[in-house]
Amino acid sequence: MENFIFQNATKIIFGRETELKVGDEIKGHGRKVLLHYGGGSIKKTGLYDKVVNSLKSAGVEFVELGGAVPNPRLGLVNEGIKICRENEIDFILAVGGGSAIDSAKAIAVGVPYNGDVWDFFEGKAEAKEAVPVGVILTIPAAGSEASPNSVITKEEGLLKRGMYSELIRPVFSILNPELTFTLPNYQTACGAADMMAHIMERYFTNVTHADLTDRLCEATLKTIIKNVPIVLNEPDNYDGRAEVLWAGTVAHNGLLGTGRVEDWASHNIEHEISAIYDVAHGAGLAVVFPAWMKYVYKNNLDRFVQFAVRVWNVEMNFEDPERTALEGIEKITEFFRQIGLPVTLKEMDIEDDRFEEMASKATMNDQITLGNFKKLNKEDVYNIYKLG
Ligand code: NZQ
Ligand code: ZN
Repeated sequence: MENFIFQNATKIIFGRETELKVGDEIKGHGRKVLLHYGGGSIKKTGLYDKVVNSLKSAGVEFVELGGAVPNPRLGLVNEGIKICRENEIDFILAVGGGSAIDSAKAIAVGVPYNGDVWDFFEGKAEAKEAVPVGVILTIPAAGSEASPNSVITKEEGLLKRGMYSELIRPVFSILNPELTFTLPNYQTACGAADMMAHIMERYFTNVTHADLTDRLCEATLKTIIKNVPIVLNEPDNYDGRAEVLWAGTVAHNGLLGTGRVEDWASHNIEHEISAIYDVAHGAGLAVVFPAWMKYVYKNNLDRFVQFAVRVWNVEMNFEDPERTALEGIEKITEFFRQIGLPVTLKEMDIEDDRFEEMASKATMNDQITLGNFKKLNKEDVYNIYKLG
């Protein structure tokens, strides 16, 4: 097991009607709030009215900014920064999914910073201060509700980049499974693929003796595999939604990576796809992750055998363990297909004409390698797109 520091300060407030208390929760943190959200689902579902009422009855002033799109854009982040400065905002409340939350986090580091907020995403600057962020989550997927990351797309050049800072880990996140009943099945499925990917980025490691986190990863994956088909059939199944919602947070709050060397190649490979083609991040991962697996499994066959046997209940083939490993990869591909996700790039209308450019962007012109399970150069990344 590797050395590690585990610290996650996000207060999780989980359960029925928990969003009604958001105003009181904010009072301890801020006086004037930016209420930030996405394309309007929260207005259709009635959540917006509940939040506004809660803020008003707690006496919390607010200014609002909607419009965060999936794969959120830098333009709106800059608009948010301006609004916060003009209105002396001291707290940002994101209501929605990873896109609204990431946009809120980027605004949070941009407000006190003198330079261009994109500097943080290019690794040119490190955040020293941030406006605190709180969350009401409406889709289990990105794990941004308890992560220290924000992923933003710059319109010019369609660059999708992430930043990391403990300062943007939300101070609280409100998770009410009822708020996820209205999700379209496709979004539920995309979310499932994303959270499974967050676990697998940690699971596929060459570190030996990480028994506890191996088992935690497997348990979280199995919980998702069991409950996602249930909620796709029965969108208002509270317990099914609760399992998936909590699994999404646990998948990406840092716990499952403790003592391990994490990978993250598949995420970087996927980000080039969603940046250019504007597809859902989870859908891109449903294609990229199995493709990555096929490309790297021989590097540590035992790990893939363990994945197949423990997560997918594949029977161990002692004479031909490679067969067992490959069956595990087939199982996850089949699972993604069954829950309604694309499993090839073609199904997303993505041809091979930009693979070269994407592989080049992902590896910064072959200057860096991706991942740790197997270090991948530009040619490897290109080959993975080809397998997708
Ligand atoms: O925008 P609205 O109208 O709210 O609709 C959203 C959006 O169209 C809709 N939706 C959300 N909750 C709903 C709902 N519709 C009906 N009922 C509800 N309860 O679902 C769509 C997707 O929302 P979005 O916020 O884009 O989804 P997600 O949470 O998957 O976030 C995706 C973004 O997160 C980034 C991804 O790259 C992508 O940009 N990620 C962020 C990470 C992080 N910060 O730690 C890590 C992840 O790996 C990921 O990269
Ligand atoms: Zn992800």
